[in-house]
Amino acid sequence: MSNWVEVCTEGEIEPEELKGFKVEGGEYIVCRSSEGEYFGLAGLCTHEQVKLCEGMIFDNELECPKHFGTFDIKTGEALTAPVYKDLKTYPVKVEGGKIYLGL
Ligand code: FES
Repeated sequence: MSNWVEVCTEGEIEPEELKGFKVEGGEYIVCRSSEGEYFGLAGLCTHEQVKLCEGMIFDNELECPKHFGTFDIKTGEALTAPVYKDLKTYPVKVEGGKIYLGL
């Protein structure tokens, strides 16, 4: 069962944007797709543990700011080198205009 943690309000993340959060010492990101859905993912790149909150989203793919490896924001799948290991995903829910990450 998920432990739901409130991370921000709905208006804080625009489509094709993301925001990083530190929760209980862990790094997480919430990405918003071009269709407006939210996706929770681990916040550190699986290549060299760089913070992905500084990355960019294009066509629902998240690009790491360091070596530009990409991940599918919906599934966490590693798409292009040098990333080969998928990102862990976390459920997100929106309630009363607030965004919760399920950890
Ligand atoms: S640290 Fe992310 S691609 Fe290298």
